[in-house]
Amino acid sequence: MNRRASRIFRRGPRTQAGAHPVDLADGLEHAHGLDRVIRTMSVAVQRTLRPGPVKDALHGVQVGHPAHPPLTDVPMGCWISVGVLDLLPGNRRAAQALVATGLAAAVPTALTGLADWASLHRQQQRVGLVHAMSTGTATLLYSASFVARTRGRDGTGRVLGYAGLTALLAGGYLGGHLAFRQAAGASHADQVAHLVPLGWHDLCSESELPEGWPVQRRLGYISLFVLRDGDEIHVLTDRCSHLAGPLHQGRIVGDSDELCVVCPWHGSTFRVADGSVVHGPATSRQPSFESRVLEDGTVQVRPVG
Ligand code: FES
Repeated sequence: MNRRASRIFRRGPRTQAGAHPVDLADGLEHAHGLDRVIRTMSVAVQRTLRPGPVKDALHGVQVGHPAHPPLTDVPMGCWISVGVLDLLPGNRRAAQALVATGLAAAVPTALTGLADWASLHRQQQRVGLVHAMSTGTATLLYSASFVARTRGRDGTGRVLGYAGLTALLAGGYLGGHLAFRQAAGASHADQVAHLVPLGWHDLCSESELPEGWPVQRRLGYISLFVLRDGDEIHVLTDRCSHLAGPLHQGRIVGDSDELCVVCPWHGSTFRVADGSVVHGPATSRQPSFESRVLEDGTVQVRPVG
């Protein structure tokens, strides 16, 4: 039978730019016209940036936070300061030095951003691409501003600087949208401390856990990754801290000294013993649980405080 809806209560996302900047950013999330470029660029970045210490450093694995957002402070701080200095007399050399410092800092900032961007969801990548185009335009304008200043054409240097600042602020706004509306870079693992009461909780029977093969089990509101390895039972939250991929569908690698799970979505690798990050793009530890087996074979878990 062919049934048609008589009333529709939910609308799809708005794709038209509205009166507020956030409407424009929301619209970018659904700008499918960018997808071809995004696909080509993502593949190129992933082929160039092979898993290893350099890629991990660009993501910020070693520091436990994404490296890109704090690095953006340097060029933004320098170039906003240039905008202030250019309003005041007698700051020619200081302004020139800050333009140059911002340009030097833009290189690692762009590289870290590119590394993170290649492993985002498509909606995030659409906003991220326009963010990169805005900040890239700002960098080009500040480069031209620097050249003009070194040749003594300070007036042109100032005009180019303010044009660069406009592009920079637009890019910064989209960066905020990525971080706070789309949660790129935030941990997507379940917030165990708020969802699981303290103490031991029954989870399942030990006999239903296959040896060396991860399974998913539910504990109240959250899903858990459970892996039986001989006498040990490793338990982590199942939603990957990077972008919530299902860890129980991941690959188990390593030996029992350092058994790890590789997320099926973007390859983040976590130690199953404590959830610590071995390889990015994830930078946040996967929340882990202590486990014990009662005499009747019941597996109990409790959050690691
Ligand atoms: S969701 Fe991206 S690595 Fe797990």
